[in-house]
Amino acid sequence: MNAHLVIAIDGPAGAGKSVFGAALASVLQAMCIDSGIVYRAVTWIALARGLDPDDDTTLSPVAASMNLQIVPPTVQDGRQFTILIDTEDVTWALRTPEIDRTVSRPSALPGVRRAVTEQLRHLARESRVVMVGRDIGTVVLPEADVKFYVTATPETRARRRADELHARGQEADVADILRSIIERDARDSGRATAPLRPAHDAVHIETDNLTVDVEVAFALDVVKRCLRSATAPETNDV
Ligand code: CDP
Repeated sequence: MNAHLVIAIDGPAGAGKSVFGAALASVLQAMCIDSGIVYRAVTWIALARGLDPDDDTTLSPVAASMNLQIVPPTVQDGRQFTILIDTEDVTWALRTPEIDRTVSRPSALPGVRRAVTEQLRHLARESRVVMVGRDIGTVVLPEADVKFYVTATPETRARRRADELHARGQEADVADILRSIIERDARDSGRATAPLRPAHDAVHIETDNLTVDVEVAFALDVVKRCLRSATAPETNDV
């Protein structure tokens, strides 16, 4: 059993990275860190305090000092965990269409990215980690043992996001979501600092026609093969 194992998962909005990452982490008994939550938290604070979401000077200290905690679910409403900023439960507040529309702006700011990246790297030192995001394999953890780049067509991704909102009893217009996803992809891929792109050594997974179970089984196989070729036979058991 490998004590230290780092897996990076990147990909565009709604590709299914979070569900996949959580399922893979559970099988590997690893901690799953969804870096998007941190950028969403910075965005939520900016909107709540009326701060300019494009102002790095104001937002990078916010990113460096915010009191963000991820704890076991405090309410049984379909959440996998509860997210607190100070003492406020923001679990669903981080997932509103307003945050979706705004989040790629603070995420493009170099100072905000530096502050978040530093915190993420610190977390990854702990033990077994599956980290999910946009730049994990390229910038945050370029030395990760295994890297995945997960994607799906924009239509599939918009439909999934609409299904998530419906499941929480919220209105969702697939065409609006599709527009918002395409805009966010363009901003995430086009920014100067840490743009969304696959690491050169990432394994690509197209998820349009895959169940999470099949995806996890495939990923486990890749993890085993990567570890086997990188080190001793003991690593067969992941
Ligand atoms: O769940 P979804 O894929 O829609 O988004 P997310 O993973 O929660 O990320 C939200 C936003 O945070 C992205 O659109 C990026 O703008 C930003 N992000 C980033 O820039 N770098 C990361 N490592 C993770 C997220």
